[in-house]
Amino acid sequence: MIYPVILSGGSGSRLWPLSRAGYPKQFLTLHGNTGTTMLQDTARRVSGDEFAAPLVVCNEEHRFIVAEQLREAGIKPLDIILEPVGRNTAPAVAAAALRLSEQDPDAVMLVMPSDHVILNEPAFLEAVTKAAKTSAEGALATFGITPGTPETGYGYIQRGQAWNGQVSGDVYQVAQFVEKPDLATAQQYLESGDYAWNSGIFLFSARAYLTALETLQPAMLKAVKQAFALSQKDLSFCRLDTEAFAASPSDSIDYAVMERVDNSVVVPVEMGWSDLGAWSALWEIEPQDESGNVTRGDVLLDNTRNSYIYAEHAMVAATGVDDLIIVATDDAVLVANRHNAQDVKKLVEQLKAQG
Ligand code: GDD
Ligand code: MG
Repeated sequence: MIYPVILSGGSGSRLWPLSRAGYPKQFLTLHGNTGTTMLQDTARRVSGDEFAAPLVVCNEEHRFIVAEQLREAGIKPLDIILEPVGRNTAPAVAAAALRLSEQDPDAVMLVMPSDHVILNEPAFLEAVTKAAKTSAEGALATFGITPGTPETGYGYIQRGQAWNGQVSGDVYQVAQFVEKPDLATAQQYLESGDYAWNSGIFLFSARAYLTALETLQPAMLKAVKQAFALSQKDLSFCRLDTEAFAASPSDSIDYAVMERVDNSVVVPVEMGWSDLGAWSALWEIEPQDESGNVTRGDVLLDNTRNSYIYAEHAMVAATGVDDLIIVATDDAVLVANRHNAQDVKKLVEQLKAQG
């Protein structure tokens, strides 16, 4: 049995003004035409017989959105673990590992972001099965995507020797894990052909993760253990203790654990994966018209190319523009060059600073 652990604590600021702190992108229907949200898609993807009910870890503030979206999708969670404050992904995964250890210390956890698109689900599930076999042999598994561009927003995994456990085929030891390298380094990695993008999806036993934390992040483990020991159960919510959890160092699983462990493996997988991080990513994966435009809502275009235009309520009309992102919602309009889509985050930071 594999236990899905869904991380739903990000704020998705590069997808402003649709994604907001109070209602971030994982709760939105941004992609495709099924009408389901990214959180719902993530949970449904792992609802087959080989999976237990999912554990969701999210901020307390989002508890009703998460509960309601799961209910709507017909998914009954094992629990929804609530973080009183964000401490990034390493403590969130630690809380999930402690919860699952109660059930079974060797529980196999499949840790997944709640905001990714995976078009080829059979390929994903096949890779998960492979990774599960390596976890039985004590490894921490990552899923590697062949890189197409020198992205600096991703982790890079250098493939080492073939894993010599019982899994045959395409599984490798991790020679090196480098989280978010600079552009020159990313370019070298791309050219070398030895590196994969880290998909941000991980599989390991609760025991293996907690053992790694014991040596690598003892202060974090101590704080999260305390927060979990003092947690309060309230229906399907498990509320971590505020003071204890706030005392944990804040760090991502990538920096705190994956970069430092020596028993990790990489399972290469081509699964139509996309981290819908910014508007430009949506422009890339959604169907484009003959001029390369992607539109949603009431949009009127003339002599416009390679643009992403989203009209939530009012109509949006454009003429004579190229490579633009226009997102118009009830109370805000974003206009950005498509090549500056990552910088939307900076605008949001400015907005926050203004209060
Ligand atoms: N519960 C919880 N608590 N979830 C969190 C928190 C938190 O404090 N912080 C982030 N998350 C969730 C986000 O919602 C997202 O689903 C996932 O954890 C990953 O966090 P991101 O903030 O999106 O990470 P990233 O995109 O910068 O980098 C990671 O993903 C890349 C691929 O998309 C890394 O794993 C990279 O190595 C990887 O390439
Ligand atoms: Mg991300």
